Amino acid sequence: MPTTCVIGLQWGDEAKARVLDVFSAEADCVVRSQGGSNAGHTVIIGEEKFVLHLVPTGVLRPGVLSVIGNGVVVDPKFLLEEIAELQQRGVQVEGNLVVSDRAHLVMPYHRLFDSLAEGRRGQDKIGTTMKGVGPCYADKSARTGLRVADLYQPGFFRERLRAALEEKNALLRGLYGQPELEGDAIAEEYLGYAAKLQPLVHDTQRLLLDLLDAGKHIILEGAQGTLLDIDHGTYPFVTSSNASVFGAMSGAGLPPHRIDEVVGVMKAYTTRVGGGPFPTELADEVGSLLRDAGNEFGATTGRPRRCGWLDLVACQYTARLNGIDSIALTKLDILSGLKTVKVSGAYRVRGKTVTSFPAAVGDLEAARPVYEELPGWPGRLGEAREFSDLPREAQGYIEHLEEALDRPITLICVGPERDQVIRRKPG
Ligand code: IMO
Ligand code: MG
Repeated sequence: MPTTCVIGLQWGDEAKARVLDVFSAEADCVVRSQGGSNAGHTVIIGEEKFVLHLVPTGVLRPGVLSVIGNGVVVDPKFLLEEIAELQQRGVQVEGNLVVSDRAHLVMPYHRLFDSLAEGRRGQDKIGTTMKGVGPCYADKSARTGLRVADLYQPGFFRERLRAALEEKNALLRGLYGQPELEGDAIAEEYLGYAAKLQPLVHDTQRLLLDLLDAGKHIILEGAQGTLLDIDHGTYPFVTSSNASVFGAMSGAGLPPHRIDEVVGVMKAYTTRVGGGPFPTELADEVGSLLRDAGNEFGATTGRPRRCGWLDLVACQYTARLNGIDSIALTKLDILSGLKTVKVSGAYRVRGKTVTSFPAAVGDLEAARPVYEELPGWPGRLGEAREFSDLPREAQGYIEHLEEALDRPITLICVGPERDQVIRRKPG
């Protein structure tokens, strides 16, 4: 059975969960391998809407095992609340969810420093989700982090926390003029979570390798998107993990050569939430139209998302980088009713035509898209189940994207409901 990696090709919010929910019907296991509760993964099942942040989308499919991998940063308070809410809504979590003992813990001071650091950045703020994700990954790299396994070594946990707080409190006092944090209270709180989490905690790397060896079908659920990747994204306006295929491997603990296919998820237009360059952003009524029609408001923070045309310069870059085999195109229905639709095939940057995605934020800010204008299509797409059911112009749009990205579009979402998809064979 294949191991499939599902990766966002834009700045997150590509409706990855919508695609993952389709794929997970055929899977044994769904794994989150990076990010934390900054993610907001929305699945609509009939009248019900689920927004998942830490728990993999596989939890909504009975019999599918959901794994929170070693590369995820876990806020235990948040996780327990998310689980309780799912249980209240009748989702069977017990026995279907495991958490890596190697995952790092988001601590109260990570959330605090996330907002203090954003305050200090002022105009240049990143616009983070304030979930403590960046400061937690910073501590992981600085080797001052605390991990899930540490919750079960109380002496070690207290000592590491004390050492971490020495540094945190000096910063709080000296740089931010804030009151110091009290180690004992935090230790009590976290050691209190330990017992509640214990049934979920596993050596997930070993578990996943065993599933792989047993021929099970594993899906890796990407969070955020490649343009938010710490190495490959629009740095510094990025998240703090590898939100690309590269993070999926290390964050699950799976050997790269055991991945059989990489599916890139691309929304039919572009959105971005938070700060940073966005060459195809539309500050006009078309941008507002996309926001309203596509309900483009953050699933985690409620912030309105910035909207614009599809950027093929950016997606060519991310599709190639991730080595994707195929594309899942989401929210095609949102473009319905527009007279024409535009895609950016190149940029003009300070008088030069550019087709590769620039590294420098200044170049991306200076970039003016060179648009190709394609005919729009009237009417709704929600009933289409075959490619041939789509209006000719919508087919033309898809064919244009396939040609530009040199990859087949094998899944097309034409509405929010589970069955509103078109699946196609490549070629
Ligand atoms: P899903 O998985 C869209 C953005 C934030 C901010 C930047 C850094 O739902 O696609 P962070 O809190 O991670 O330090 O914020 O990254 N961001 C997302 N944008 N979708 C997400 O996740 C995001 N997770 C983080 O808005 O610009
Ligand atoms: Mg989201």
